[in-house]
Amino acid sequence: MIQTIVVAASENNVIGIHNTLPWHLSDDLKFFKKITLGKPVLMGRKTFESLGSPLPKRLNIVLSRSAIELPEGVLHFTNYQEAILYLEQQETPEVCIIGGGVVFADTLSFVNQIYLTRVHTVLENGEIFFPILDCKQWTKVWEEYHPKDEQHQFDFSFQQYKRNQSLV
Ligand SMILES: NC(=O)c1ccc[n+]([C@@H]2O[C@H](COP(=O)([O-])OP(=O)(O)OC[C@H]3O[C@@H](n4cnc5c(N)ncnc54)[C@H](OP(=O)(O)O)[C@@H]3O)[C@@H](O)[C@H]2O)c1
Repeated sequence: MIQTIVVAASENNVIGIHNTLPWHLSDDLKFFKKITLGKPVLMGRKTFESLGSPLPKRLNIVLSRSAIELPEGVLHFTNYQEAILYLEQQETPEVCIIGGGVVFADTLSFVNQIYLTRVHTVLENGEIFFPILDCKQWTKVWEEYHPKDEQHQFDFSFQQYKRNQSLV
């Protein structure tokens, strides 16, 4: 099964402030939707809470070590491997891991693909971070630059990375 991280991070790897995103970039939200639609989206309990409701047209999976109440149809697992086992049993071709910082740190060593929206700004007040990618393990296979405009407060670049062993 393809395990894909989908994330947006500043130049200094900030992904969250005050339990929300540090920016509103409408084209990035559209890109996120395009990548994830129809696929299971796996996230940490805090990211699910910050979304406020399940993402439509996607199986929502929430990781939490505690018993939690979730809306109907949202799945809960107490660890990543259990969630992956369940999805493999369903013969799911791909899972999208959508945050936040704790879940990215816990799952990065298992994933084979990353869609990173690199937001070209340095944020000094970041609270939640994406791990630094080891350039020996990852190859950038695609990139598309978007300049800032009235809809987008920062320049950003969509980047796709593949884990080196999955390129051979
Ligand atoms: N820029 C982006 O792309 C992006 C994407 C997503 C989120 N975010 C931002 O990131 C922030 C939230 O991230 P966060 O790091 O604070 O929290 P998080 O990763 O969303 O959730 C952390 C919680 O998830 C559960 N959890 C995490 N890893 C687990 C594991 N391996 N097994 C079982 N449970 C696990 C635990 O819940 P329990 O405490 O209940 O056990 C943990 O406290 C927000 O600011 C959000 O806006 C940014």
